Amino acid sequence: MTAKLLDGKAVAARIQQEVKDAVDDMKAKHGVTPGLAAVLVGENPASQMYVKMKRNRCAEAGIESFGHELPADISQEDLEAIIADLNADPRVHGILVQLPLPDHLDEQQVLQSLSLDKDVDGFHPINIGRLAMKGREPDFIPATPYGCMVLLQEAEKLVDGFKIAGSNAAVLGRSNIVGMPMSLLLVKANATVTVVHSRTRDIPGIIQNSDIVIGAMGRPEMIKGEWFKEGAVCIDVATVKIDDPSAPKGYVWKGDFEFEKAKERVGAISPVPGGVGPMTIAMLLKNTLRGAEIAIAKGIKA
Ligand code: GUN
Repeated sequence: MTAKLLDGKAVAARIQQEVKDAVDDMKAKHGVTPGLAAVLVGENPASQMYVKMKRNRCAEAGIESFGHELPADISQEDLEAIIADLNADPRVHGILVQLPLPDHLDEQQVLQSLSLDKDVDGFHPINIGRLAMKGREPDFIPATPYGCMVLLQEAEKLVDGFKIAGSNAAVLGRSNIVGMPMSLLLVKANATVTVVHSRTRDIPGIIQNSDIVIGAMGRPEMIKGEWFKEGAVCIDVATVKIDDPSAPKGYVWKGDFEFEKAKERVGAISPVPGGVGPMTIAMLLKNTLRGAEIAIAKGIKA
C-alpha cells in the first residue's frame, strides 16, 4: 500500500476527547451541561441505530441527550409543536431531526421550524444559504461534510505537497446532507469543484483530473482504482452493506471506491468502515458544544 490511511476512528476519538474536556470546563465555569435532543420519527432500523450511536457518544462526552421517539404517523402540526417546545427549552442546545422523515411530512418545513441557534445538523435553509454565500459563515456546518473537511486537513499533514486550496476536487453526489454542502465547503476552502451526478458524462476523465475525490453516491466500488490521479486524496462517505457468505459476519461494507486497487495509487484514502462514519458523530458533538456556547453568550441558562 502506498497511500496513507485517513484513520477517521483515531481522529474522531481525538475530537471527542477535546469536546469532553471543553464540556467539563463549561460545567465548571458556567454550570451549563450541553444538551442534544434527538428526534426520531417512525421505526426505520438504520435511523434507530444512528440515533442510538449518537446518544451513546453524547453520554461519553458528558453531553446530556433527550430522546423523542415519535410514531410514524405523527402529524406535521404535532411534530412542529414538539420542535417549538425544544426550541424554547433552555436545557437543549442542539436539535437533531433524524432524516429521512416519512413521506407525509414536509421535511423542509420541519427543518425551517428549528431555532437557528440549535440547528446542529446545519440543515436549516438559512445555514445552507450562508454556506453558499461569499463572506458569510453558517452557525453550524453539516456534520458529515464537516468531518470530511477535517480529514482533508489531516491529509495536508500526511501527504507531501497536498493543499486543499488550489486543488481540483470532484464531489460524487449532490444530496442536501452530503454532496451539496461538501461542494460548498470546498469552494469556501478555495478548491475548484466539479459536482458529479447521475447525468454526468465522462466520470473517469473527471476523476483522473482530480486531486481530491469525495465519494457520496452509495454505488459500491463504482469508481475504479485505475481512474484515480496518482497522489490524490480520496474520501469515501458511502457505506453499503453487501452480503458475503465468506466473510465472518456474512456481510461486508463497501464504499464508492475500489479501495484495494485505489490504495496502491493514491496519496491518501479513508477506509470503509472506520473513515468518515466516526467523524460524523464527532462533528455533531462539536456542534452541540457550539450550541451551548451560543446559549451562554446570549445569557440563556437552564
Ligand atoms: N440522515 C443521514 N445522515 C444524517 C445526518 O447527518 N443528520 C440527520 N439528522 N439525519 C441524517
